[in-house]
Amino acid sequence: MMGDRFKYDFLIIGSGVAGLWYALHVADHGRVAIVTKKEQAESNTNYAQGGIAAVLASEDSYESHVQDTLVAGAGLSDPAVTRIVVTEGPAEVKALMALGASFTREAGALHLGREGGHSVPRIVHARDATGYEVERALLAAIQRHSAITVFEYHYAVDLITEHHLGQMVTKLRPDIGCYGAYIYDERADVVHVFLAKVTMLATGGSSAVYLHTTNPPIATGDGVAMAYRAKARISNMEFVQFHPTALYQGEDQRAGARGFLISEAVRGHGARLLNQAGERFMPAYDQRAELAPRDIVARAIDDQLKQRGDDYVLLDISHKPRQEIEAYFPTIAAACLARGLDMASDPLPVVPSAHYQCGGVVTDHHARTSIGGLLATGEVACTGLHGANRLASNSLLEALVFSRRAAKVAVQLMAARPINKAVPDWDDTGTERPQERILLSHNRDELQRVMWDYVGIVRSTFRLDRAFRRTRLLYEEVEEFYQRTRLGSGLCELRNMIAVAYLIIRSAQMRRESRGLHYTVDYPIPVDGECRPSFV
Ligand code: FAD
Ligand code: SIN
Repeated sequence: MMGDRFKYDFLIIGSGVAGLWYALHVADHGRVAIVTKKEQAESNTNYAQGGIAAVLASEDSYESHVQDTLVAGAGLSDPAVTRIVVTEGPAEVKALMALGASFTREAGALHLGREGGHSVPRIVHARDATGYEVERALLAAIQRHSAITVFEYHYAVDLITEHHLGQMVTKLRPDIGCYGAYIYDERADVVHVFLAKVTMLATGGSSAVYLHTTNPPIATGDGVAMAYRAKARISNMEFVQFHPTALYQGEDQRAGARGFLISEAVRGHGARLLNQAGERFMPAYDQRAELAPRDIVARAIDDQLKQRGDDYVLLDISHKPRQEIEAYFPTIAAACLARGLDMASDPLPVVPSAHYQCGGVVTDHHARTSIGGLLATGEVACTGLHGANRLASNSLLEALVFSRRAAKVAVQLMAARPINKAVPDWDDTGTERPQERILLSHNRDELQRVMWDYVGIVRSTFRLDRAFRRTRLLYEEVEEFYQRTRLGSGLCELRNMIAVAYLIIRSAQMRRESRGLHYTVDYPIPVDGECRPSFV
């Protein structure tokens, strides 16, 4: 099972916006390897719909975007980080356009959409398929760069640190370094050693730990789990964002079908939320109605579902002209039609779904983690921008800003960090081929259901404790299996999902208040003294 040894100046794990934007900015300074666990385009980035929030209109201001972000973040967004992202973001959007990304224009100017929590329209978008356009443009640029090699179906198993050199590594040790990663090559069924001077974690989020999610199945939180095992600092994992409006898919939904997102831009364009009696309910919950921040809208829907015993609410934009709907939302309209729903004439059935990981691996203003030579950007990182609740369309922006910042320090780091040749090959002595694959699919399913049922939009101490006990059992079973079984990406993903579930549950148990996305019936009120990031 032992593979090859590769040496690179820069190793990047993940090929979404964060990894690719960083790659393009370091590639003139050294050799770059991007490893990615599926096809290169498969990422959350590829499915982003609404767009990128950026202050580009003359009637908008940095102050307004900063304030909107801080308000959504419910007291936990870092004001300095927010200012960095808001002020540096517009230049990144322009650089993306210069690279070839094409965004929707009207009368020659960029068309700016509106989303919840934003005081003004400020969302740059490519109709309703912004992420697809961003990923397309980035991958095209990556292909043109001779210093970059993309390794598809290469799954990062673990970050290499002093632990692999036989030393004791703890969270308190200040001099841990990262020397690359063990990478499972799915097609060759071997584990390679990728040695690097600088390693970038750009593995995205973890919403696939929930049964119902808008994310593709790759979003298993591998980066957070790997960083946690390597003893990096992790923060704010209790803040899981549930998007209010994923399409409800009936029986398929109950069987765990992947959620299809109905962009917040649809509400920004005037869609209203109705309960199944046809009553518009959002104005009773918040004066911003359908355009309140996501945590409020998702909780209001959850409340309606529980009060009425319904499975879904309705999202209605049928009062707008058909041509307008089809012009702004061609992807969504087509996906709905494929499921027999015409959004121009009928309200759509929708439910909240797990969407975004606001916490993650703690990074500083230059994307450095607490481990030397290890950087992190994108959804895997906790920069401090999102606080207790991410403002819509701030994540692509954050990834662009911090990936460029990361590239600057990476080039300096590279010069100071030699390749560590003492790293041993992967050792799988004593393991055998898996006999009980059913354990993987069954445990994955069980974990996703536990997280959905007990660690969802509305939490309680009782439910969190129950989830903790169930997850501990899964952990023990899967660890025992892992120790005696030859590697496979399914097994590694399950192990990582359990680790991430544990981090979410523990962080939620520790927060004795309700704030932003974390709402518990046992501590329903935000508490000043608790207004600080959580660490696990
Ligand atoms: P991703 O784009 O998820 O990329 C992660 C990469 O890491 C993937 O290539 C994956 O295969 C790889 N990877 C993961 N683990 C491993 C491993 N162990 N080994 C090797 N490779 C690995 N945000 C906005 O700002 N605006 C929007 O309009 C918007 N709409 C969204 C719509 C949907 C449906 C979804 C799901 C998200 C949306 N978001 C939006 C959020 C945004 O898309 C993501 O936060 C952002 O794209 C994350 O980028 P990333 O590069 O960090 O991660
Ligand atoms: C959406 O289009 O509703 C998603 C936007 C986001 O997650 O930022």
